[in-house]
Amino acid sequence: MPRQLHLGGFEIASHVAHSHAAWRHPGSDLDFLSPDYWHRVGRTLERGLFDFVFFADLLAVPTNFGDDESEALRRGTQASATIDPSLVVASIAAVTRQLGVAITKSTTYFHPFEVARVLATLDHLSGGRAGWNIVTSLSRAEARNFGFDQGLEHDLRYDRAQEFVEAAVALWESWEPGALVGDKTGGLFADPDKVHRVDHDGRFYRTRGPLPTPRSPQGRPTLFQAGSSPKGKDFAARWADAIFEIDPTPEGRRAYYDDVKSRASNAGRNPDDVLIFPSFIPFVGETTAIAREKQAFHNELADPVSGLITLSVHTDHDFSDYDLDAP
Ligand SMILES: Cc1cc2nc3c(=O)[nH]c(=O)nc-3n(C[C@H](O)[C@H](O)[C@H](O)COP(=O)(O)O)c2cc1C
Repeated sequence: MPRQLHLGGFEIASHVAHSHAAWRHPGSDLDFLSPDYWHRVGRTLERGLFDFVFFADLLAVPTNFGDDESEALRRGTQASATIDPSLVVASIAAVTRQLGVAITKSTTYFHPFEVARVLATLDHLSGGRAGWNIVTSLSRAEARNFGFDQGLEHDLRYDRAQEFVEAAVALWESWEPGALVGDKTGGLFADPDKVHRVDHDGRFYRTRGPLPTPRSPQGRPTLFQAGSSPKGKDFAARWADAIFEIDPTPEGRRAYYDDVKSRASNAGRNPDDVLIFPSFIPFVGETTAIAREKQAFHNELADPVSGLITLSVHTDHDFSDYDLDAP
């Protein structure tokens, strides 16, 4: 059987995604607050036969760098200006037909009921194309936006995530297939025998259910994850339909692949059901030389301080006091 290449477009509902230099490129559009911008992105990816558009999300303007946001704002660092991806993808879904639409929702700062309802709604509005990137959130800046002095400890975040997803799945399954009847003459709207309480009462969450949102086309959204710690990889192997992987070397990528596939098998899953998406940032040109020239031009726009701010966010460590040339 021929193998198929799957492609996902990586976005943030923002002026840049991975490259903080991109917004300064003369060819970049800056109308990321308009629906037209995202419709163009969605239509372009669909025309290019991408499987899905994926939206990462960080719940804070970067404040980890010297406990101040001004440098991030001035330089347009990643996540310095974002809008809500769930609303963006609802808009993209309306102008596309095939493209998967995946959003990030944090298990640390939201409640399973809320996330289950948003994703079920998105699955309806997109005709079964919704995806959820399950993250536990990275930084103190995010914690402070939700009223906490700091984030939760790493493994505890994953314990909560585990229970969070169990509760969300129970909510999605609270409507059996066929529960929504809509029989006008018989006067039966929904069959109560096919809609169930959830009564989840766990260590971290309680929810009675049922979900008010009828069962969605996929039953549950496609689940994405990107764990790289042992606990994160076990979580991904247990739940994810698709996993993002960003190791910079081919050997590292191979090792990650083998590791996650064997964890999936240990979790009782068929490893072939867990797709791994290695990341890359393409520079496209008619020849290699043209592509390299475009890359060099892009790289000249990259700002080392913006890079350090992003590093501070991703590692939750303040790099503002380090000498740039020191180890
Ligand atoms: C491609 C990719 C996308 C990610 N997107 C997000 C995101 O949108 N929001 C977020 O809080 N974390 C995001 N993460 C971080 C992961 O959820 C995870 O915390 C990180 O990879 C570290 O793994 P670990 O927690 O198992 O150590 C992303 C990671 C990768 C590799």
